[in-house]
Parts: sequence; structure tokens; C-alpha cells
Amino acid sequence: MKLAAIVLAAGFGKRMKSSMPKVLHTVLGRPILKYVLDAVSALSPLQTVVVVGYGAEEVKSSLGLHGIKYAYQKKRLGTGHAAACARTELSKFKGNVLILNGDFPLITSKSLKRFLGAHEKSGSKISVLTAMVDDPSGYGRVVIDKARNLERIVEEKDASAEQRKIKEINSGTYIVSSDILWPLLKGIKPENKQKEYYLTDIIEIARKRKFTVSAVRVSDSTEILGINDRVELSQIEAIMRTRVNERVMNSGVTLIDPGLTHISSDAVIGRDAVIYPGTHVYGQTRIGRESIIGPNVWIKDSTIGNGVTVRSSCYITGASVGDGVTVGPFAHLRPEARILKGAKVGNFVEIKKSTVGPGSKVSHLSYIGDATLGKDVNIGAGTITCNYDGINKHKTEIADKVFIGSDTMLVAPVKVGKGAVTGAGSTITKDVPEGALAIGRARQTVIENWQQKTSEKASKNKSTANSKSKSSTRNKTTSGKSARGKK
Ligand code: UD1
Ligand code: CA
Repeated sequence: MKLAAIVLAAGFGKRMKSSMPKVLHTVLGRPILKYVLDAVSALSPLQTVVVVGYGAEEVKSSLGLHGIKYAYQKKRLGTGHAAACARTELSKFKGNVLILNGDFPLITSKSLKRFLGAHEKSGSKISVLTAMVDDPSGYGRVVIDKARNLERIVEEKDASAEQRKIKEINSGTYIVSSDILWPLLKGIKPENKQKEYYLTDIIEIARKRKFTVSAVRVSDSTEILGINDRVELSQIEAIMRTRVNERVMNSGVTLIDPGLTHISSDAVIGRDAVIYPGTHVYGQTRIGRESIIGPNVWIKDSTIGNGVTVRSSCYITGASVGDGVTVGPFAHLRPEARILKGAKVGNFVEIKKSTVGPGSKVSHLSYIGDATLGKDVNIGAGTITCNYDGINKHKTEIADKVFIGSDTMLVAPVKVGKGAVTGAGSTITKDVPEGALAIGRARQTVIENWQQKTSEKASKNKSTANSKSKSSTRNKTTSGKSARGKK
């Protein structure tokens, strides 16, 4: 049968105490809602409608996903009201409608597929995905009659002491046949402690209308854990971390301390890579085979080749690093930094929107921005590309085999030709031709016997001072000490 999905994500997330919509809070660097949408999209629904409300624009722009329609819930009147908001988008759809909360990122596509399979097999018009848990607090309890039929769902706030003891809970995931969904939603009344339209009430209404309702238990109850506050956010982050890290380790990657290693489910890491603790691998990042990363490295949306070493405390975003490169410790690779095969980026080096050619070295204390470095270039310590004149950014082009002396200022736009050399401490403002040596610095002045002259002057001062006043010994030592510093 055909499938459509409604994801409820309009809530404020009051318990998060945040100005950001709850579903945009992140787990391993990805918005909560994205996990739910990924699990849903694996079922290839014909249509997916995300109901947004609080922070709607923020949610839409941060997801920016294709193949998704949005419905807007103007007032947060409850989950039942939210689901009804998707009606216009799904008015022509006929088939099964999967409805689920946007705040439970641990749900897997496997469990959703199993749920859908069980629903279709049951022949019921409605199914609810439930879970058995040790601590049901906060969740709606599933009330089942003697014949194992799902009778209704009672929210904790509305439950009797007896009902609260029930350990089977509602996951907030339902499949409802489109032909009965909209009439059922219309039947919901906000008659409960919270004065909200509860989506869960469709179960009782359906039973009254003589429809059969199935309860399908999820096999791993952690999958349905919802995020309502920051404590739950941290707990789910920990579960997700374990889940992803186990998958990563089982694919042949060594994590020295998985409890302290944070890898996004979007990341791909090659065999025999070794990741040291305190490392975060986020976004669309790829790390090649046999690369060694960390400790304490942040990598986001970057491509790291094979056999790369990224040493301690590097921050890498939107960069690409070729095979066999070494980076760090303490290097900063910013967006569009391209470090080609076998190059080296050393400590306290920042690289932005620049290409460092194969085998080239920027080993110490440099800023390279808007620059192109050819093959086998050597950049001396403390070199800076002065790329910004306060209004515009300008380019620096350094050809193959150039040797840039330490502490060179390359005032862009400027080109240094193949094999050219710059003298240490130079400020290079004009292009340097191929094979040339460019020196642009103040000439050194040497004053001979400086030390002798100054001490002679000092002792002369001292004797004049003594003849004027012999009273204070403290004065003597002070003037004696400071003489060297003066003039
Ligand atoms: C809901 C269920 C509860 C279940 C639990 C599972 C109801 C009444 N209760 O409770 O039985 O055990 O989920 O996690 O459905 N939302 C809207 N608009 C609204 C209200 C909520 O879009 O007006 C969205 C929220 O953004 C959220 C989802 O619906 O993604 C669930 O809302 P939430 O307030 O977290 O429901 P729970 O109290 O957790
Ligand atoms: Ca919830």
C-alpha cells in the first residue's frame, strides 16, 4: 500500500528552556529532526509533511531538504491539532499515513519498516508503536484490554495511580489509514488536564467506531526515547554516540576511547584509521584509510585522505586534506583550504581558501589566506599573506619550489615566480620573478662598542650623583641598576 508521513515538529519544547526550537537541538552535531526524517525517508513515502510552528523558518532553512512539504501550525494546540494541519497537503493521498513525533532521534528505519510490515499484516486501520520500559514516567500509557486489544492511550497527567503503573508506553508513532484519519482527528476534543487536542485520543475514538487497533512493540525500547529536556538530550547523545562508535569500530576503525570520541552518523571513516579521544568528526566528513587523528581535534564537513596525520588540537572545517599530509598540532584549516598530497601544515598555522601544493611545507606560525602554493614550496616560520586591505581580499600566488624566508609579509596581490627566494623578514609588495631573490627589509645598522660606551656614561652619571648627595645608599643602587636601561 502507498505510504505518506507526517512528522510533528511544531512544538515549542518548553522543557528545553531554549530560544531555539527543540527539534533543531543537535545530537552528534545533527538536528534531532534530521534523524527522524532520515529514518522516515528509508521507507520511501510518496509524501512527507513536516508540521512546523515555533521557529518555523529556522526549522525549514536548517533542514533545507528536498522532497519535503511543510504544514504550518499557527497555535500549539496539541499533537492531534498538529497532525490535522497536514490535511491540506495530503488531501488527495490515499493509503497508509505514518504519523510520528519529531523529537525521538534514536528511531531506526529498520524498526519503522517492521512496524509498517506488522501493521499491513494485521489488517487493522490503526497501529501504534509501543515499548516496554522500566521507567514509563513522562510517556502516555498504553491501556490494553483482556483480549490484548489496544483500548486507549492515557497521558501521564491524566492517568490514575493504577494506570501510571503500566510499563507499556506510547512511542508517539502511528499508522492510520487515510480514509479514517481525518474524520478521527475531527473527533478529538481538548478535554484533559492540559486542555490540548491529543493525537492519542484517536485510539479511543477509533475503538468506539468499531475499528480494530493494533499495538506493535518495538524490539529495542531505547529507540523510542524522546527528548524533552537537556538531561534527556545528553542521555540520547550518549546512546547515539555508542551506537555510531560501535558501527565505526566494527568497520575496522580504532577508537582509543569511544566514550570521548564524537562521530556523526554522516561521517565515513576508512579502515585502520585511529581516532584519539576528544575528537569530534561532524557533518559530511570523510577520513581515509590508516589516518591518525587527534587527540582533541574538531573536523567538520571536510575530506581527509589516506595515511593522514592530524595531530593534537586542530580545528578543520570545510577543508580537504590529501593523502599522506601531516597537520598540526594546533593548526586551523578553514573553508576551502586544500592541502595536497604529502604536504605539511605545522603548528600554529591557519589556512583559508588556499591551495598548498604537493610536498609543500608551511611548518610554523603562519597565516595563508587566498593563496595558491605550487609544488615543494617552503614557507618559513612566521610568514603571513597580507590578503586584506580593509575593503577587499587579494590573492597571493607562489609557484613551485619557492623558498619563502621566515617572517616574510606577502602583501597581496602578489606573485612569486618559480624557484624564487625571499629573504627572512622581507615585506614583499612587488612580484618576484622566477629564480630571483627578493629582499625587502631595513638594512641592519651596527654600532660598535655599544656596551662599553653605555657603561662609561653610566658610571659618569653615578659619580655626579654621588658628589651632589652622599646621603642615600638606596639612591646609589637604584641609579646603578637603571643606568643600563636608560638611553
Ligand atoms: C507525546 C504523546 C505521548 C507519548 C510521547 C512519546 C500526545 C498527547 N502524547 O507526548 O503519549 O508517550 O509523545 O514521546 O501526543 N507538537 C506539535 N504541536 C503541538 C504539540 C506538539 O507539533 O501543538 C509536536 C512536538 O514538536 C513534538 C511532538 O509533537 O515533536 C510531541 O510533542 P510533545 O509535547 O513532546 O509530546 P509528549 O508530551 O512527549
Ligand atoms: Ca516528547
